[in-house]
Amino acid sequence: MGRPPGLSVRLKLTLSYAGFLMLAGALLLAAVGVFLVRQGWLRTNEQGAWQAGPGTSFIRGFTPVAAWLMLFLLVFGLLGGWILSGRMLAPLARITDATRTAAMGSLSHRIRLPGRQDEFRELADAFDTMLARLEAHLAEQQRFAANASHELRTPLAISKSLLDVARTDPSQDTDAILDRLQTVNTRAIDLTEALLLLSRANRQSFTREHVDLSLVAEEAAETLLPLAEKHGVTLAADGDITPTIGSPALLLQLTTNLMHNAIVHNLPDGGGVWVSTWIRPTSVVLTVENTGEPVAPERVPTLTEPFQRGTERVHTDHAGVGLGLAIVRSITRAHGGTLTLVPHPAGGLRVTVELPAAPRP
Ligand SMILES: Nc1ncnc2c1ncn2[C@@H]1O[C@H](COP(=O)(O)OP(=O)(O)O)[C@@H](O)[C@H]1O
Ligand SMILES: [Mg+2]
Repeated sequence: MGRPPGLSVRLKLTLSYAGFLMLAGALLLAAVGVFLVRQGWLRTNEQGAWQAGPGTSFIRGFTPVAAWLMLFLLVFGLLGGWILSGRMLAPLARITDATRTAAMGSLSHRIRLPGRQDEFRELADAFDTMLARLEAHLAEQQRFAANASHELRTPLAISKSLLDVARTDPSQDTDAILDRLQTVNTRAIDLTEALLLLSRANRQSFTREHVDLSLVAEEAAETLLPLAEKHGVTLAADGDITPTIGSPALLLQLTTNLMHNAIVHNLPDGGGVWVSTWIRPTSVVLTVENTGEPVAPERVPTLTEPFQRGTERVHTDHAGVGLGLAIVRSITRAHGGTLTLVPHPAGGLRVTVELPAAPRP
């Protein structure tokens, strides 16, 4: 960027070193002068002019020595300062180079400054950490875009082949094809809406208001009760008043996604879902627990990734788009909360969302 050129830090440090050395030298000489006056080797006469005392020859000899000393200090300070500051600032050049490389778009470069911990190493390490995070974030975004495109292509490709069949083979049952088309179309709409929701939660562009999480959970439970009955799952919800601050719509979405998962990823029959809310000193907690097939603990961290689905059979009426938990994670983050998934050894999952409690009035 076009800034006017200034003195380099190395030059400034050099001048400061030399300046301080000269100052220290001058003070030392002044101290020697005061000492000499005290000793009576120098004194003023009645007119205020300097007059040599008994040590006249010593003073005469000392003055040029002092001048030479100051000159030596100046040269020594400039030279020493230049070399020392050059050595001290060397890591900075490496950091600047790395910054430029990163600015050109290469995020894989690292500074990896050797040596023990000091301010420059701290800066370099922090910079390396930032680069690593940016790189991981970018890779995640690219993976997400690729997955989203792939997921969106599937219903479109199915629609295309259905349309092809309808046109080329008039003997086909058009009603059946229309039904299939409608299903596929609905799925594409669901997917797009989930994607929009995800980006909305990630952008954190929503208005925040007081929300009672237990009421939100109650509303979600009421809506999902027919689905639970259809799956032969008993749904139980209880809870304290849990005031928090956030978007009621997004929190309802979060609760609905969790309960929906708990219902559909459950035992084929006779499963259970337990929803509860309670309050802690500074936070409010929502847990959704369900029975079901055992979930491998090593798979748990991947479940919140977009488009990661379990391997279990897909219910005919619920072919999830695989964004449910990713949306829950984004909404939780956007509300400054934490999401924890713990698999139950006997099967099923216990999902906990902890959000900051609303400040008491
Ligand atoms: N409550 C749950 N119990 C068991 N497995 C679950 C539960 N919630 C999510 N899962 C697993 O996590 C995967 C990802 O969930 P999600 O992101 O909601 O995608 P989807 O439900 O569309 O498959 C699911 O496919 C399922 O295997
Ligand atoms: Mg789901």
